[in-house]
Amino acid sequence: MQGVVYSGVMALRCTTAIVRSVPNVFVEALRLDGSQAVVLEKAKKQLTHYIETLERCGVRVVTLPSDERFPDCPFVEDVAVVIGARALVTRPGHPSRREEVGVMREALKLLQKAPQIYEMEDPEACVDGGDVLFTGREIFVGQSKRTNEKGVQCLAKTFPEFSVTSFPVRDSLHLKSLATMCGEDMIAVGGDQEAMETLNRMKSQAKFKYEYVQLDNNAAANVLLVNGNVFVKPGDEIGHNNYDILKKRVKGRVIDVPFSEFYKVDGCLTCCSVLINQEAVSG
Ligand code: GLY
Repeated sequence: MQGVVYSGVMALRCTTAIVRSVPNVFVEALRLDGSQAVVLEKAKKQLTHYIETLERCGVRVVTLPSDERFPDCPFVEDVAVVIGARALVTRPGHPSRREEVGVMREALKLLQKAPQIYEMEDPEACVDGGDVLFTGREIFVGQSKRTNEKGVQCLAKTFPEFSVTSFPVRDSLHLKSLATMCGEDMIAVGGDQEAMETLNRMKSQAKFKYEYVQLDNNAAANVLLVNGNVFVKPGDEIGHNNYDILKKRVKGRVIDVPFSEFYKVDGCLTCCSVLINQEAVSG
């Protein structure tokens, strides 16, 4: 399998997204704080809107069927890391999520131009894709409760053309609960102490230079960059001050994507899709 290695904004382009429908059991999804009940019908409507928004950005969307055995199955980002022409099918850190990978593996194989699929050979290695932040130039990985050192080594082996740097993630679910790409060489970062520590580590350890957009709320820092468009949660979900900062600083088109029901179970805008650039895959 030959592939084209892009870097910078070209490496973040996507032609195709894999998403997964919301099961009824989604109301029982894993969460750090169980204080707010998920409204199932609202979650289903929010995912439909998310899919339609991806399509409006020129992305072909493959929707996998939900599975009532897996409450967290809409969070597809955690089960595959796709960069360029390679896809790593992960071993998610939480045992209840391990079997979610099967349908993703098959979906990747069935793509018209399928990326080369890599497996995590080391049985002790764990990675949740939510911990993998690809900037277009290098890979940052959160070592969280879901992603371990052996998982970081596996990422480095799978994507040898990119530098891999890991940071501890102690309290939040994933690295991308704290920071995400909001433009070319531009990273949105949340506001709590852990986000600040992560920001400082990124600034000192990154191999490339980035512009950082600091927000005062971690929920605001998870945005989804799709071909120059930036999906953000509306002001009533992330605070109008943060919304205004993103509107001002982000260079692409900002699109409101309500996501309240997913956030109640630690889901973010990046969590619900695996973005793939089929132009990077040849053959
Ligand atoms: N609810 C998302 C996760 O814990 O994996």
